[in-house]
Amino acid sequence: MAKTLFIFNTQLLIFLILCPFSPTSISAEDDDHFVRPIDRKLLGLKKEKLSHFRFYWHDVVSGRQPTSVLVVQPQGNSTTAFGMLHIHDNPLTLGPKMSSKLVGKAQGFYISASQSEIGLLMGQNFAFLEGKYNGSNLTVLGRNPVFNKVREMPVVGGSGLFRFARGYVEARTQWFSSKSKDAIVEYNVYVFHY
Ligand SMILES: *[C@@H]1O[C@H](CO)[C@@H](O)[C@H](O)[C@H]1NC(C)=O
Ligand SMILES: *[C@@H]1O[C@H](CO)[C@@H](O)[C@H](O)[C@H]1NC(C)=O
Ligand SMILES: *[C@@H]1O[C@H](CO)[C@@H](O)[C@H](O)[C@H]1NC(C)=O
Repeated sequence: MAKTLFIFNTQLLIFLILCPFSPTSISAEDDDHFVRPIDRKLLGLKKEKLSHFRFYWHDVVSGRQPTSVLVVQPQGNSTTAFGMLHIHDNPLTLGPKMSSKLVGKAQGFYISASQSEIGLLMGQNFAFLEGKYNGSNLTVLGRNPVFNKVREMPVVGGSGLFRFARGYVEARTQWFSSKSKDAIVEYNVYVFHY
């Protein structure tokens, strides 16, 4: 037992000497802070600004290439589709027409989460493709009672140029086909970001 321990310790010692990432190479300063304030310039952050983006969201549920699919059917005989889950990868275009310039994709889900009206819980990432925002994403999570004229949902964060983003979106249905269930929704996004 004592011999095994000795061999183990010797191996550990050799490992510590040879390993460039041994604890001795970590400075005491790095070792003893859990949290500390830092200058925002160290993260390349300059002045916070407020921007307004506008684009159109296309929910294509019909046809041979839907961008939005029903994953879980509503439960029981609910009149509000309670329990339904949809997942989408919807185009975001500059103008209301699908043929208009593609500026991003909205990737996320909507769940019917109300038993008293058609009220969705929506979570989506806007993955932008346009200009300097190409490659940056915004995350929106909120309540969407789809038959209201204007629905407001919070911007809860983002990545890339949208690090530290916060704000809100206003969603307004532009067009809805009760036959195909396809929809076009105007999104106005008001967001603080760096
Ligand atoms: C719908 O479900 C409720 C509760 O389960 C039940 O009482 C009712 O009879 C059902 N209605 C129909 C039309 O199936
Ligand atoms: C966006 O970035 C990707 C990857 O860097 C690039 O392939 C693509 O062409 C860019 N799109 C636009 C519209 O600039
Ligand atoms: C934004 O989302 C796209 C698509 O999912 C991903 O490729 C990209 O890495 C994300 N950008 C950042 C900065 O995380």
